[in-house]
Amino acid sequence: MTQQHHIEQLIDAETIGRRVAEMAREVSAAFDHEEVTLCAVMTGSLVFTADLVRLMDCPTRIVTVEAASYRDGTESGELSVYGLVEHKVRDHRVLLVDDIFDTGRTMAELVRRVEDLGPREVKRCALLRKLHDRVEGTPPEFIGFDVPDVFVVGYGLDLDGRYRGLPYIGKVNPYVL
Ligand code: IMP
Ligand code: MG
Repeated sequence: MTQQHHIEQLIDAETIGRRVAEMAREVSAAFDHEEVTLCAVMTGSLVFTADLVRLMDCPTRIVTVEAASYRDGTESGELSVYGLVEHKVRDHRVLLVDDIFDTGRTMAELVRRVEDLGPREVKRCALLRKLHDRVEGTPPEFIGFDVPDVFVVGYGLDLDGRYRGLPYIGKVNPYVL
């Protein structure tokens, strides 16, 4: 049987919507209302990117990249990156869009990969940032919300592929049976 979890709401849908609208304005202004190539980190930023892009006040392109890290316990393993090819980003002004900035390893590696392909510019955006002292590197220029150091799902974020469709962000509490 499928494992079920109790999801405790941390950020409601309306609050997310308001903040994403603000972020869209901040991002558009930071790119001088010129064309932005959103590089959406799949699959977690799917929902966020879809909402953000529709509220941006500038021409946009959307490209995707898949990033998967294999973790054993708390240690983050090697990061695999798929789907990032030169023509998607060369000479474009790129905004990397991820769901959550945790240690920052994913974002740092993706910036390196994108920069190798000759973009005009790379900025970074994450809907969420986890608050703890295991952060490597500098936080993204654009952050939606800070969240506590717990596992969160919803609005694109998953637990083993599940809960991405929840309209809110919630904390996962396993049922103790
Ligand atoms: P980082 O490389 O440690 O910053 O991890 C970022 C990636 O880990 C994100 O792109 C997410 O896919 C995943 N991740 C980290 N924390 C969570 C969480 O609480 N819920 C769901 N995914 C998470
Ligand atoms: Mg991810």
